[in-house]
Amino acid sequence: MLEIPRGTRDFTSAEMLIRRKIEENIRSTFLSYGYGEIQTPTFEHLELFTVKSGESIIQELYDFKDKGGRHLTLRPELTAPVMRCYVEKLQMEPKPLKLFYFGNCFRYDRPQKGRYREFWQAGCELIGANTPEAHAELITLAYTILKNMGLQNIHLNIGNLTILQAVFQKFGISPLDQKKLLPFLDKAQFEEVRRTLYDSNLPDTHVEQCISLLQTTDVNEIKKCLEDAPDIQEEITNMETILQLLQSVFHVPSVSIKLSIVRGLDYYKSLVFEIEAPVLGAEKQLCGGGVYDLIGLFGGTPVPTAGFAIGFDRSILALETEQYVFPQPRLDIFIIPVTEELIGKAFEIAGMLRNKGVTVDVDLLRRGIGKSLKYASSRNAQKVIIIGPNEIQNNVVTLRDMHSGNQKTIPIEEIMHYYTKS
Ligand code: HAM
Repeated sequence: MLEIPRGTRDFTSAEMLIRRKIEENIRSTFLSYGYGEIQTPTFEHLELFTVKSGESIIQELYDFKDKGGRHLTLRPELTAPVMRCYVEKLQMEPKPLKLFYFGNCFRYDRPQKGRYREFWQAGCELIGANTPEAHAELITLAYTILKNMGLQNIHLNIGNLTILQAVFQKFGISPLDQKKLLPFLDKAQFEEVRRTLYDSNLPDTHVEQCISLLQTTDVNEIKKCLEDAPDIQEEITNMETILQLLQSVFHVPSVSIKLSIVRGLDYYKSLVFEIEAPVLGAEKQLCGGGVYDLIGLFGGTPVPTAGFAIGFDRSILALETEQYVFPQPRLDIFIIPVTEELIGKAFEIAGMLRNKGVTVDVDLLRRGIGKSLKYASSRNAQKVIIIGPNEIQNNVVTLRDMHSGNQKTIPIEEIMHYYTKS
């Protein structure tokens, strides 16, 4: 038997119904914040991703040569593609430019629950705005999308790579040791962070002070520690303003400072943020984003950029874990013509109902009423119309309610009338 490639999934109609409903919900939230949708190709030149991250990123990509010898890759994310598109054709657009996307991404990851080789991201890029309110609104949008999807329990963490760098400098941690620390910080493995700091010959008091700062949720602690570093004061003030806006203006209830956010991608600087669903355990990060620079690197005129992407598949997993009640596939009406002569009439009624937006199916197998009713029930039909030869002479049909099992004879116009009203 031929098997599906590792790390990919098929989606049944029941699953697609759920996915499309949630996708629709996400789109409408993006639109309500003034973002316009953008679509870029599924594959790009490999260089688009190596130019910032270097050749080492290739091991995480699905790269290939096409028949013309071009080195291409399936996109692992959409920020670099959107920035390429911006530089190619959108630079003259009025600012700020708000772009959102929904698309599949491919990463040569080790598959596990919540981590796939093909997955979907819903994300956005805010181009040409760098104020604290721009960033606070962006973060609120990410939070609101997840809330509007129906998630109950999510938490927002905000970090800042420039401030993290200043902390490293303050404690005299060498660039080499910083590099060792980042993966441990990323995974919140503070015992490993402590060991690395001790190994780097930092005095004991500095190690503990540094760890305390990396774990603090109190912006005042960070402020106090860096009060003698003038270069960083604006960054700290912006962070405070963003926090204050999130709490008092945008009413985001669950937000913490977390300096240990380092983000895996190489293009971030200053503000970074992540939203997690603690119910998910290991792969709990639903959203990641921040401020970054790519435009200059891609040959455009630099303007400030920030954005985020939400892992669509993980967000659905989180909803499932929270026992969210998903929509079920259903038919409004199933029509059973009792004799072959009535098949035309059945489709005529189906056509009229379908034109009104009613979901209708007609028995296509010329089965008896019993079998047809069983099938209608398996399709979660709400009502069944049985068209019999005697009734049709009088322009009436039998309408059966599939929940109660009650049946009544009604004129055909009445069905149309009922569905026009509702
Ligand atoms: P990212 O953190 O790499 O950021 O991915 C965003 C989200 O995609 C993650 O939080 C996670 O939910 C989901 N995700 C990542 N890898 C996988 C996977 N293998 N399987 C399932 N879900 C996954 C970015 O991609 C940036 N481009 C976000 C951004 C936009 N930054 C600025 N603008």
